[in-house]
Amino acid sequence: MRMKFLTLIRIHYSPLLFFLLLSCSFGAWAQDQKWAKIEKVYNTYCVQCHGLQRNGTGINAKFMTVQPRDHTDPKEMGKIPDDEIIKAITNGGISVQKSILMPAWGKVLTQEEILELKDYLRHICNCGMENKKS
Ligand code: HEC
Repeated sequence: MRMKFLTLIRIHYSPLLFFLLLSCSFGAWAQDQKWAKIEKVYNTYCVQCHGLQRNGTGINAKFMTVQPRDHTDPKEMGKIPDDEIIKAITNGGISVQKSILMPAWGKVLTQEEILELKDYLRHICNCGMENKKS
């Protein structure tokens, strides 16, 4: 009787278990996909200065008088409010009283990409302050 009950559970619930497993792995995949698009943008426009490791060590960095921000530094990145990040990317370093060596991307990237970059930077610095305003 007990065996039969277990067999029944197996037959009836295995599709459900399979589905649960599938949705879990889909969740992980979707999470990776979430950043895949914006990582491409970063890898195209930002790595020359901010570096493949996102820590400010791009190939241009050694020739620059002001060093690019280390985007993986939670302490430094944590000090910069969201709206400053958005402004710095859109209108360049000079718009937030920082170095002119940080270019303006407002005419290159869409507003949506800039907002996604801000979220991505928060993701890689592990210093989310989504709601903080300067
Ligand atoms: C030509 C080199 C260069 C490129 C390319 C570049 N940056 Fe920068 N970035 C800098 C420098 C230099 C600083 C540091 C400015 C300072 O501290 O005065 C900086 C600082 C920043 C900051 C911090 C601003 C602040 O308020 O402290 C953010 C955010 C940023 N960059 C994002 C980006 C993103 C996103 C991209 C790609 C779309 C990018 N940067 C491309 C050079 C660059």
